[in-house]
Amino acid sequence: MSETRIGLGLAALGRPDYINIRSNTNIDKSVESFKANTFNVLDESYALGVRDFDVAPSYGLGEQFLLDWNTSRQHKDVNLSTKFGYTYVANWEIGFSGKHEIKEHSLSKLNEQWEISKAFLPNLKIYQIHSATLDSGVLNNTDVLSRLHELKEKYGLKVGLSSSGTEQIEIIETAQNIVFDGKDLFDSYQVTFNIFEQSCYTILKQLLSNGKTVIIKEALANGRVFRHPQFKNYEPIYNYLETLANNYNVGTDAIALRFVMDDLEPTLLLSGASNTEHLKQNLKSLEFELHSDEISILKSFAVSSEHYWQERSNLEWN
Ligand SMILES: NC(=O)c1ccc[n+]([C@@H]2O[C@H](COP(=O)([O-])OP(=O)(O)OC[C@H]3O[C@@H](n4cnc5c(N)ncnc54)[C@H](OP(=O)(O)O)[C@@H]3O)[C@@H](O)[C@H]2O)c1
Repeated sequence: MSETRIGLGLAALGRPDYINIRSNTNIDKSVESFKANTFNVLDESYALGVRDFDVAPSYGLGEQFLLDWNTSRQHKDVNLSTKFGYTYVANWEIGFSGKHEIKEHSLSKLNEQWEISKAFLPNLKIYQIHSATLDSGVLNNTDVLSRLHELKEKYGLKVGLSSSGTEQIEIIETAQNIVFDGKDLFDSYQVTFNIFEQSCYTILKQLLSNGKTVIIKEALANGRVFRHPQFKNYEPIYNYLETLANNYNVGTDAIALRFVMDDLEPTLLLSGASNTEHLKQNLKSLEFELHSDEISILKSFAVSSEHYWQERSNLEWN
């Protein structure tokens, strides 16, 4: 049985609009309501055994909510991870039409965001570059890399990165070659992998066999694994997912999550649940295993990386 743990990502919890295909858009979008809901989801997750929580400064008030929760609950056994590199600029404006997050992978942004994120210590275990890319130059920026190495040494953190887009493999390959004092800088990789986007399978397996932490995000393809009229091309996939869901008496989400656990066996798989109901349904993935013939069929549903990321970039914030 896979030893993958399920963690909770706060991307959808800390801000009123997000890129996911939400199943329910009729929700109270006030800050108070979001904060109360986030505390509910965090408490319920903890009660159900989740110990890993992932956030970023660009998840609206997500970092603040998690900080408040961490301080008030005083759990000693939680593993928190956050990131630097994106700033949230939508200012809680519903339907904000501009870019919601601004990317900046500079040393000054790292120092500015670290000043806030360090309040997660000692429960902060992984500190990541948010969406490292080749063109941002962050993986060649010795000032940033040295500072990350310094934080790693001083606080006993794992240093990580997250990646998105068609260049995920090249980003990981580049990061693997960054070494300080004879040791790899990067200990942890947060990567997109799901039924549609499986391009990183081989390199992620290598990372795992080299003892690295592999965290999977967007395992539900931002909601695209659920039957949706916008994606007629996925009808055969939806039919098969729903057949498996009926057979195992779980939802499509649990099948899609279980596929990642049984096929890739990552260290951690992030649930992006925005409410306690989705959380409980996501956690059902821990209660069964897929058969090898079912995994083979699900593996055959991969689409090209180019197609996957083009489709994702067409999704709307809502
Ligand atoms: N580093 C990065 O660049 C990056 C990028 C993306 C994500 N992440 C991390 O990964 C975490 C998870 O990713 P994600 O949330 O973006 O994507 P995801 O897990 O692929 O998709 C979440 C989507 O699935 C839906 N969903 C979940 N359970 C459901 C259920 N039982 N029934 C119906 N719909 C359900 C959600 O709907 P509702 O919204 O209605 O719940 C949402 O639309 C994030 O929270 C974040 O921590 C990191």
